[in-house]
Amino acid sequence: MKGSIDLGVQPRGNAFPKPDGLAGEFFYPLIVGMCDSCAMVQLMADIPQEVRYHDQYPYRASNSTVHSAHFAGVAHRLLRTELTGHDRFIVEIGCNDGVMLASIAEAGVRHLGVEPSQEVAELARSRGIEVLPRFFDEETAAQIRAGYGPADVIFGANVIAHISHLDSVLKGAVTLLGPDGVFVFEEPYLGAVVEQTAFDLFYDEHSFVFSVSSIRAAARLFGLDLVDAEPLAIHGGSMRYTLAKRGARRPTPAVAELLAAERARGLDRHATLEELNRRAERVRDDLTSLLRSLRAEGKRVAGYGAPAKITTVTNYCGIGADLIPYVCDSTPSKQNRVVAGSHIPVVPPSVFRRDRPDYAVLFAWNHAEEIMEKESGFTGRWIVYIPEVRIL
Ligand code: TYD
Repeated sequence: MKGSIDLGVQPRGNAFPKPDGLAGEFFYPLIVGMCDSCAMVQLMADIPQEVRYHDQYPYRASNSTVHSAHFAGVAHRLLRTELTGHDRFIVEIGCNDGVMLASIAEAGVRHLGVEPSQEVAELARSRGIEVLPRFFDEETAAQIRAGYGPADVIFGANVIAHISHLDSVLKGAVTLLGPDGVFVFEEPYLGAVVEQTAFDLFYDEHSFVFSVSSIRAAARLFGLDLVDAEPLAIHGGSMRYTLAKRGARRPTPAVAELLAAERARGLDRHATLEELNRRAERVRDDLTSLLRSLRAEGKRVAGYGAPAKITTVTNYCGIGADLIPYVCDSTPSKQNRVVAGSHIPVVPPSVFRRDRPDYAVLFAWNHAEEIMEKESGFTGRWIVYIPEVRIL
């Protein structure tokens, strides 16, 4: 495996340190490579998961109304398809604040959320969800199977690609699933990352960016078949994968169609990542020169949204509070903190509305529609940098 994308030295994407707690920030080289045999796109460095998913992990899945509606939809679809019948059982890996399992619990279906981050696990519990505060791996899977019996569904959203011990997760799925059970997960899609030049989706938590071909190859190693794949618009372009035990289900035509499309697009070739690296460099150069010229003209610029992605883009581009004095975000646990490494202060959206800057860089670009609608009173202009730098 060789590194094809170099995003420089980076801190943890979701660290959001307090302004007085900047000593000893953790940095690592953010280099992305592709496996020579299965074309899995992954970070070259492995950051211990205990460093990443600490007790105060700030991400709240329910923060976006679009996402909440999406996950209620996922729950209702599973209830209609895989979870009909007597005494069904679903396990969600990384259930966060219970955004998906809440609908399952409401329907009275047996469930278990596996969630190591304490604060979000508590939120899930307060919604009536049963939570096991652990990381999911082979051992956890065996423990759940012993205590609850086999699962009909294992679900994960924006979490499986975060787990560097993917081998142990897949082995755990084999252990925990019943004979006709399915492992369904949705994650940001390599095809969308390449198409949109979304280099900021690479950060410490995203150990992998999956494709249909790399997931199919990885699953095979552990006795699982990829039986369905479904493109999703969420998170700027995701894919929902369905794995089943070998031979248990016939793959849908979508699997072969998507594999052929990926081969045609070169998603299994190093050269594709190298081209993405070049496009990221162009975005970096264009964004920094735009921000410098706006500063020279005396324009006031703010940032909108502090997703983990902001850490990658600001540290890669060398953008600090000198170019973007603050960024607003609706997540209370990120407010009054700073973006790791670049130290741009995070403030509540009320500050943005009062301040009325001339320009706003949209860092939460995957929520563009929702944010622009919410901020329809904004009289300045939006700056986007995905797939290229533009002033709207
Ligand atoms: P998101 O892209 O969901 O996560 P990630 O950290 O995985 O990249 O994060 C979106 C951020 O944008 C989140 O911190 C909340 C913020 N946000 C707002 O401030 N206002 C909004 O209207 C929306 C939808 C999100």
